[in-house]
Amino acid sequence: MSQTERTAAGTLRAEHAGTEVVLAGWVQKRRDFGELIFVDLRDRSGVAQVVVDLEQTDASVVAAAKDVRSEFVVRIRGKVVERSTEAKNPKMATGEIEVVASAVEILAKADTPPFTIEDETNASEELRLKYRYLDIRRQPLTKNFILRDKVAWQVRDYFHRNDFLEVETPILTKSTPEGARDFLVPSRVHHGEFYALPQSPQLFKQLLMVAGLERYYQIARCFRDEALRSDRQLEFTQIDVEASFIDEEFIYALIEGLFAEIFPPAGIPAPTPFPRMTWQEAMDRFGIDRPDTRFGMEISDLSSAVDAIDFAPFKSALAEGGMVRGIVAPNAANFSRKRIDELTEYAKVFGATGLVWVKFDAETGSSIKKFLTPSSIESLQNALHAEQGNIAFIVAGKPNVVCDALANLRLRLGREEKLIPDDSWNFLWVVDFPLLEWDEEGKRWAARHHPFTSPKATDVAKLESDPGAVNARAYDVVLNGLELGGGSIRINDTNLQSRMFEALGIGAEEAKSRFGFLLDAFRFGAPPHGGIALGLDRMVMLMSRSQSIRDVIAFPKTTRAQCLMTEAPSHVDDAQLRELGIQLRAKPE
Ligand code: AMO
Repeated sequence: MSQTERTAAGTLRAEHAGTEVVLAGWVQKRRDFGELIFVDLRDRSGVAQVVVDLEQTDASVVAAAKDVRSEFVVRIRGKVVERSTEAKNPKMATGEIEVVASAVEILAKADTPPFTIEDETNASEELRLKYRYLDIRRQPLTKNFILRDKVAWQVRDYFHRNDFLEVETPILTKSTPEGARDFLVPSRVHHGEFYALPQSPQLFKQLLMVAGLERYYQIARCFRDEALRSDRQLEFTQIDVEASFIDEEFIYALIEGLFAEIFPPAGIPAPTPFPRMTWQEAMDRFGIDRPDTRFGMEISDLSSAVDAIDFAPFKSALAEGGMVRGIVAPNAANFSRKRIDELTEYAKVFGATGLVWVKFDAETGSSIKKFLTPSSIESLQNALHAEQGNIAFIVAGKPNVVCDALANLRLRLGREEKLIPDDSWNFLWVVDFPLLEWDEEGKRWAARHHPFTSPKATDVAKLESDPGAVNARAYDVVLNGLELGGGSIRINDTNLQSRMFEALGIGAEEAKSRFGFLLDAFRFGAPPHGGIALGLDRMVMLMSRSQSIRDVIAFPKTTRAQCLMTEAPSHVDDAQLRELGIQLRAKPE
């Protein structure tokens, strides 16, 4: 058999009946029926059934067919035949045919795998991650990487057509902050000095604008030492974009154009233009800056409705500049005391001191029943737009706690009460973000996005007098409550950049040592510019209907920040540490 002549097993259909093919791949399953041996042969394209008829084939083929076991690597020659009607398997893409083997060659033997490699597996994720290369052999995962490749290819094609240049930026660099901790790499040559891995190519893409490249993009790896979740990894991939002489509208149209090309082939309609919502509206209605607008249960402000309710937590929240807000779930009967207790604990995870509930039914069950009167119940019901049979959940406290608790409660109830329609896809731009946010711990203003985001021209004057009221020329693109990307129009004026650093409490010395190279560059003619970065992993995760970002990354880390296959991170030799001049201290408390 020729070494290279092959047909992709997963592509075989009834129309191929009668043709001679050579298949090469792994044995997914072997079933021995005495006179017939069936082998399910898997390659990247899919699985095809091979049949070895012991009566019709010569002894060497029979011997090989008897020897093969799961995950052996084989090459098989045979003839495609259409299966009889009753033998057809509509669940298999190749279920109309089988390949009658005339030659079977074992290319490599395999130990029994630690789990069965089939589409559905009940092996634990730990085991699958330890043997990731076996996990990737499973068709659902293989398909994710085929999709990911296709998307990356479409992205490159789109930006190339739109006159963008892909430029690579360094991995060993200086800190490029995006609000997470840096990964540091010690320098051997420069004793005591460190490179930082980029949290994004942010500074470099801005420098490429100063350099005159005008339109840049990169499928770029980013590194952030932050807590992991199902939509976050320590290293992940951005579609990073920057352009000169543009404004927000250019970015909106550019990204909508991209999404309109790449999402529909994955069965996700992306009608443009996408709706837009201000950050303030998103926070008021959904309590979160990336609202899932596929269902209602919006948040209501109850500050005046609770006026007549003499319940201390409401009073003190309002007296201290906080808020009282609530959401309404449709079916009060679904909420037992046990379930309400669970939801209360859940609200506490987000800092709420408690969760008030009111059932609008004949008895008006409520956690604050003794404080309620018929008229206060009526004002609550009106303010919440609640109907008979509904239940309200109310949180009082600091604005960020109230928003966070209600936003998360809403999402949980939306899922549990099945309020989110299947297969609906809501793209959304969130715009007009505040430029700064108050950092309670550090007692100072912090950049909500990063320090290079431009304030709105009309708000610049407030940078010193009322920093919290300054809006940014920043935007996020959201799909079904997941932040797919974010960006901004940048500051391109050295003076304004210095004022921004001052507002952030970054002194001239510190600014010079951290970002001096960027500030220097801006002295030599920085064009107006702006951009965005999209999370490629998150996009492919949604397109492939995966539950976790790990399903679309070939070798991901666990939520405990480990690679179970390579066992990274790991200890290194003393000699290596000595060479780097590093001595380990005891673990910090
Ligand atoms: P930002 O920090 O919003 O912006 O990141 C852009 C997008 O990257 C994705 N993302 C992540 N994906 C997986 N794991 C992570 N840990 C992770 N962190 C972020 C998200 C996010 O929306 N330089 C700016 C962009 C700009 O201003 O142009 C930036 O990095 O999908």
